[in-house]
Amino acid sequence: MTTLTIRRPDDWHLHLRDGAMLKAVLPETTRHFARAIIMPNLVPPVVTAADAAAYRDRILSAKPDGSKFKPLMTLYLTEDTEVSDLRAAAEIGLITAVKLYPAGATTNSASGVRDFSKVKRVLENMAQIGLPLCVHGEVTDTEIDIFDREAVFIDRVLDPIRRDIPGLKVIMEHITTKDGVDYVRTGGDNIGGTITTHHLVINRNHILVGGIKPHYYCLPVAKREEHRLALRAAATSGEASFFLGTDSAPHIDPLKENACGCAGCFTATNTMSVLAEIFEQEDALDRLEAFTSLNGPAFYGLEPNDDTITLTRGAPVTYPDKIESGDGPVTVFDPGFPLHWQVSA
Ligand code: DOR
Ligand code: ZN
Repeated sequence: MTTLTIRRPDDWHLHLRDGAMLKAVLPETTRHFARAIIMPNLVPPVVTAADAAAYRDRILSAKPDGSKFKPLMTLYLTEDTEVSDLRAAAEIGLITAVKLYPAGATTNSASGVRDFSKVKRVLENMAQIGLPLCVHGEVTDTEIDIFDREAVFIDRVLDPIRRDIPGLKVIMEHITTKDGVDYVRTGGDNIGGTITTHHLVINRNHILVGGIKPHYYCLPVAKREEHRLALRAAATSGEASFFLGTDSAPHIDPLKENACGCAGCFTATNTMSVLAEIFEQEDALDRLEAFTSLNGPAFYGLEPNDDTITLTRGAPVTYPDKIESGDGPVTVFDPGFPLHWQVSA
């Protein structure tokens, strides 16, 4: 196969930031993607309907001319989130989902949830109106090993919440383990799982062997090879529960190449070429469209995009090593293998 035309993809988990960074990274997504679920972990976070409306407007004004990109906004769930505000935002179509960060789990998550009983009423209301919950699935207890935090979260937090409120639609985001894959796969229609581009490429050795590679550090951190293989099998399976959420998360180089470096891989620029290469390696190019363009909208109850992109196989394609953000350079994810699929929009 040398050309592949698929419905235009969507990104079901994206960090766009704000200000100069937003302006710099947004075109990297809008070039190929029609829609994206926009993460609300700004400083301060997007917690109210008014915050979400203002952020949406800033994104729309930063859009490149002619782009039809649609940001799908989320609210950042806190212990003080008001049901009435959230319901009003959902009713007018301002928000598509709500994001749960356990407090302290990752970048800008200090306002996240500590006591899950305090958000129960909000979650019950979300189940009633069919508003999905996007979950950063890691416990934050200091005694739990960072490589076990996802598996422990499933047992201690996610599964109890889902048993308590079975009608709640949940997206377990950026799954990184075989445990996550199994939980999503066997969890019925109300759970979906997003998988990032970088977790299909790297395992923990890529971060640590032969010198520390800060640009491969993200959260949840990449795990052992057996987990990466489980993620690849899930992503390329075509199964409806799994879809793309890049978690493309820009940080300027000085904050990554730092004694206390930030978590995040910036993959917006080359994601579709990297995915095509992976799906080709797995002999699953015919299932790329399900992963990037069909399963996500189906889970969210939205129509897939009408227009298409075309991927063409040829001589290796190159992408810039870095993009300039106004605040400093942002390094583009290096998959460590040549890319042969050119994307035309
Ligand atoms: O690697 C990550 N970066 N994981 C997250 O959960 C947050 C994100 C960010 O905002 O930089
Ligand atoms: Zn994220």
